[in-house]
Amino acid sequence: MSVRHFLSLMDCTPQELVGLIRRGIELKDLRNRGVLFEPLKNRVLGMIFEKASTRTRLSFEAGMIQLGGQAIFLSPRDTQLGRGEPVSDCAQVMSRMLDAVMIRTFAHSTLTEFATNSQAPVINGLSDDLHPCQLLADMQTFLEHRGSIQGKTVAWIGDGNNMCNSYIEAALQFDFQLRIACPEGYEPKAEFLAQAGDRVQVLRDPHAAVAGAHLISTDVWTSMGQEAEAAERLALFKPYQVTRELLDSAADDVLFMHCLPAHRGEEISMDLLDDPRAVVWDQAENRLHAQKALLEFLVEPAYHHA
Ligand code: CP
Ligand code: NVA
Repeated sequence: MSVRHFLSLMDCTPQELVGLIRRGIELKDLRNRGVLFEPLKNRVLGMIFEKASTRTRLSFEAGMIQLGGQAIFLSPRDTQLGRGEPVSDCAQVMSRMLDAVMIRTFAHSTLTEFATNSQAPVINGLSDDLHPCQLLADMQTFLEHRGSIQGKTVAWIGDGNNMCNSYIEAALQFDFQLRIACPEGYEPKAEFLAQAGDRVQVLRDPHAAVAGAHLISTDVWTSMGQEAEAAERLALFKPYQVTRELLDSAADDVLFMHCLPAHRGEEISMDLLDDPRAVVWDQAENRLHAQKALLEFLVEPAYHHA
């Protein structure tokens, strides 16, 4: 059987994705009840981080330990990857020693090249194009708070970035309508919009985008790697700040999500995370549970005793 990777939400069927979310809820319940569940004993996840991370690193590392395995943090600064060893060679070697590899990188092609040469499952822990693990957590959080997202309306406010692209894929896979409000020139990549068809609408006015929405999500205006554009972006994105008043224009039961880290006073108002409609802490916690479900799905169960 060929190895499964998780580079994008499109690597799973809609049924598998719903199964992962439901399993994440079950694993959360097991942990809350103090039940020991270690199907990945002796299994090892390698984690390559070319960009900074708090949530992704912690949730994968804690998740592996809780499932009975281990995780190894690999920085390009201390590995041969950072000194120019080809990605394909690293993939050949690393995947012979590891049971899964999580990669946070810049170019999405690094992930696809690694996966092509890997014997072990590869997980996208964020690329310039996509952040699918965050969407597992977001979809779990919506299900827990409001039930199925199928047929609902979601508004993405701000930059058409990696998170936005993953929301487009989620709209297709989880069957909801997505309205994106972004400044001209900051739309999501055309290839993602093209595959979404009329499932996704791009607007300029955030108020029009949130009208009747059941979920509003945003992200930083300057993603990792775009620091040189920060001042220009700050000025351009000003009308796209998500505020309590903006949430008031949405459905009465709207939820607000942000993948974090958040910049209060920029993409969100100073008080937004204190609003009861914001579920960002549950969302962040669910990275742990949803990714444990993903690891269980991708990594073969424990070895047998000799
Ligand atoms: N949301 C998210 O991926 O956070 P980190 O950058 O802290 O991993
Ligand atoms: N769009 C952000 C997400 C961080 C989790 C970035 O790429 O920096």
